[in-house]
Amino acid sequence: MRIGVLTGGGDCPGLNAVIRAVVRKAIDGYGDQVIGFRDGWRGPLEDSTVELTIESTRGILPRGGTILRSSRTNPYKREDGPQRVRETFARHQLDGLIAIGGEDTLGVANRLHQDGLRVIGVPKTIDNDLGATDQTFGFDTALHVATEAIDRLHTTAESHNRILVVEVMGRSAGWIALHAGIAGGADVILIPELPFDIDEVCRLIRRRHERGRYFSIVVAAEGATPKEGTMTVATGEVDEFGHPRLGGIGQQLEREIESRTGFETRATVLGHVQRGGMPTAFDRVLATRLGLAAIDAAHHGQWGMMIALHATNIELVALADAVAEVRRVPAEEYQRFGVLFG
Ligand code: F6P
Repeated sequence: MRIGVLTGGGDCPGLNAVIRAVVRKAIDGYGDQVIGFRDGWRGPLEDSTVELTIESTRGILPRGGTILRSSRTNPYKREDGPQRVRETFARHQLDGLIAIGGEDTLGVANRLHQDGLRVIGVPKTIDNDLGATDQTFGFDTALHVATEAIDRLHTTAESHNRILVVEVMGRSAGWIALHAGIAGGADVILIPELPFDIDEVCRLIRRRHERGRYFSIVVAAEGATPKEGTMTVATGEVDEFGHPRLGGIGQQLEREIESRTGFETRATVLGHVQRGGMPTAFDRVLATRLGLAAIDAAHHGQWGMMIALHATNIELVALADAVAEVRRVPAEEYQRFGVLFG
């Protein structure tokens, strides 16, 4: 077979582990040829390719990022985009494509599949917000980075009797904020799913002071929003998939908390640090299992499917089901931890 591979959307640790697993099994297991597309969907659009071999993918397992690079290009927003992708497929005589990405990249994969192209999806995102799979690789690594940062901020917050606000990634799902907040013992956790009440945030912080704890850690997902009319928030430009560029809630909370409570407050934005660097062992293993299953699925002709993790098992689900809905933190899940706040 001749198989294409691409990585699209925001990068995350573990992408190279998937590429390596696909290439190893495709070449050594099946005698395939593997063509890598550069820069996400821009690769098939502009016919930008590189041959992937066992030699060219050596040593990449622990490396963060993606050797194929990535972009947020959407073929359905480009003139004749799907047709150009189809022509590239034909030019390279591809039997199929493995698209590694989150909701946007796999949303395109699903549309292309419905338009007749042979595509298999592999889920990735640090946000862990993809439907039909229990966990995406990249999330565990981001969680470790965020938790370590919270641990470090704890000691300096305590030394200075300060409130430290930590802004983490997660524009529409608060998995990183919730899990890193719980793992790091945060006093307040704000997630996009549940608009927050700034009065309640300040009440929890004041209560800690009354109990003799003169510092607090507030973890806020970048997509956390205040209840309507309680605080003004800034919005940014949107990308080709219509997502606004976020960032700024941390600083806004810093100002608001300090002015309302009178306690010295500082904000730290973790940003892309959460997406960079080496994947954890868990993410390397998960990414490898997904990559091996993806090339098997191609050989079994299971086009239009995504490789998913269900409990501890690797299974196949329809791409359409995976991209139907973003997986958000359920309110009960968040509320279960409420007793630990403040
Ligand atoms: O989709 C993953 C993600 O890291 C989100 O958490 C974040 O909102 C977004 O990407 C940032 O995107 P960019 O790197 O394009 O600014």
